[in-house]
Amino acid sequence: MRIAMIGTGYVGLVSGACFSDFGHDVVCVDKDQSKIDSLKQGIMPIYEPGLDRLVASNVKGGRLSFTTDLQEGVAGAEAIFIAVGTPSRRGDGHADLSYVFGAAREIAEALTGPAVIVTKSTVPVGTGDEVERILREVRPDARAWVVSNPEFLREGAAIEDFKRPDRIVVGIDDEEAAEVMREVYRPLYLNKAPLLFTGRRTAELTKYAANAFLATKITFINEIADLCEIVGADVQDVSRGIGLDNRIGPKFLHAGPGYGGSCFPKDTLALLKTAEDYQTPLRIVESVVTVNEARKRAMGRKVIQALGGDARGAAVALLGLTFKPNTDDMRDAPSLSIVQALQDAGANVRGYDPEGIEQARPLMPDVEFFESPYKAAEGADAVVLVTEWDVLRALDLTRLARTMKQPIFVDLRNVYPPAEVEEAGLRLHSVGRAQ
Ligand code: UGA
Repeated sequence: MRIAMIGTGYVGLVSGACFSDFGHDVVCVDKDQSKIDSLKQGIMPIYEPGLDRLVASNVKGGRLSFTTDLQEGVAGAEAIFIAVGTPSRRGDGHADLSYVFGAAREIAEALTGPAVIVTKSTVPVGTGDEVERILREVRPDARAWVVSNPEFLREGAAIEDFKRPDRIVVGIDDEEAAEVMREVYRPLYLNKAPLLFTGRRTAELTKYAANAFLATKITFINEIADLCEIVGADVQDVSRGIGLDNRIGPKFLHAGPGYGGSCFPKDTLALLKTAEDYQTPLRIVESVVTVNEARKRAMGRKVIQALGGDARGAAVALLGLTFKPNTDDMRDAPSLSIVQALQDAGANVRGYDPEGIEQARPLMPDVEFFESPYKAAEGADAVVLVTEWDVLRALDLTRLARTMKQPIFVDLRNVYPPAEVEEAGLRLHSVGRAQ
C-alpha cells in the first residue's frame, strides 16, 4: 500500500518509519529542505531510541523515502496522513491549525486518485469537518474521505507504543474508508490490537480526553504527595496502595516535579479552549492546568528550602533537564521553572543532561553545562535530580557526596531509597515523604 506522510515531526517521522516497517511504501514529506536533506543522509532531527536504525533499514529496503515535494508524495497514495504541528496559538491557547489546513489544501490539489486523508496531528473537535470542507471546495469531484486517527505514542517509547498500541482509534463512518484504514494497520489488526471505529468528532475528542485524564492522574498524585509530606505518609506506598486497584491502575501515579512536554500542557489548554467555545467548562481540567503550573514553580522553592531558605551564591546542580528521559525535548520541562526560581533567588545553576544540553542551552541563559553528572556536582551546595534518565538512576552517590560542598540531595523523582542516600552521606529531600 502507498502512504504519504505530511510532516516529519515527532509523530510523522515515527509513524512513517513504522508504517514502512509494516511493509507499506511510505513517502515522508516536509517543507523544511534541510530536514529532508539530513533525513536522506540518515541524520534524525530528534532523539528517539531505535528510530535511526528503523529509518535506515526501511530506506535501504526501498520502502521509505523523503521529499519536499508534496505533489510527488501524494501522487498515487491511498492513505495520506497529515502529521504537521498544532502549536498553541500565541495569546489565546487555541491550537494553531494553519499548518493542518494548509496541508489539507495542498493535498486536495495534488490528489491523483481515490484516497483517505487522515489527520494524525492532535486537532480540536470539528477540525476534520473543516478539512473536509476544504477538500470539497478544492476538489468537489474527488473520491476521498477525511478520517481522524489520533496518535497515542509517548516520546522515548514511541516505536514500541506505535507497534504495540493499547488501541487504535479511527474516526470515520464510511465503510470503504474504514477498509483502507484496516489495511493501513493490518499487522496490528491481525495481531488483535483493538481497532476502535468511532465518529470523526468522537475520535478527535478521545485524544484530548486521554491526555487530559493522564495529566489529571499525575496532578492528583502530586497533590497527594504534598499532603503526604505534611502528615508523614509515603506517596510511593499510597500510589501502590491505590494502583493495585484495577479500577485505578498503577500507571501515571508517579509523583514528581509536574508534567511537561509537547503534549499535556498544550493539549489540556486546547481542550479548555474548546470547552469554553462551547460554553461547557471543564473545571477539573482547569484545576489540573493551574495546579501543575504552580507545582513546577514550587519545586524551585523546595530546593531553596533544602538550602535553608537562602540560595544566594549557592551552586546548584540540576541533573536531567528534558521533560522526561530518552528524549532531547525541552518543551515545558519542569527544569525550566526550577532554573528560573533558583536564579531569581541568586543561585548559580549548573546543568547536566544525557541528550538535552544542546536544546537546553538557549533556553537556560547563565546556566553552566557539564558533560557528566559528577562534574556538575563538584563543589555544589545541592544536587537536584529532576529527570530520571537511566544513567541518573545508577549514580554512585558516595562519589557524588565526596566532591560536593554541602551534602544536599533533592530527589524530585523518588529514584533513590532514603537509606541508600543517607548511607552515602547525603541529606535527602524527596517528594511526598516526611522530610
Ligand atoms: C503523552 C501521552 O502519554 C501519549 O499517550 C500521547 O500520545 C502524547 O502525550 C501525545 O499527545 O503526543 P509524552 O508527552 O511523550 O506522551 O510523555 P509522557 O510519558 O506521557 O509524560 C508526560 C509528562 O508527565 C512528563 O513530564 C513525565 O515526567 C510526567 N509524568 C508521567 C509524571 O510526572 N508522572 C507519571 O506517573 C507519568
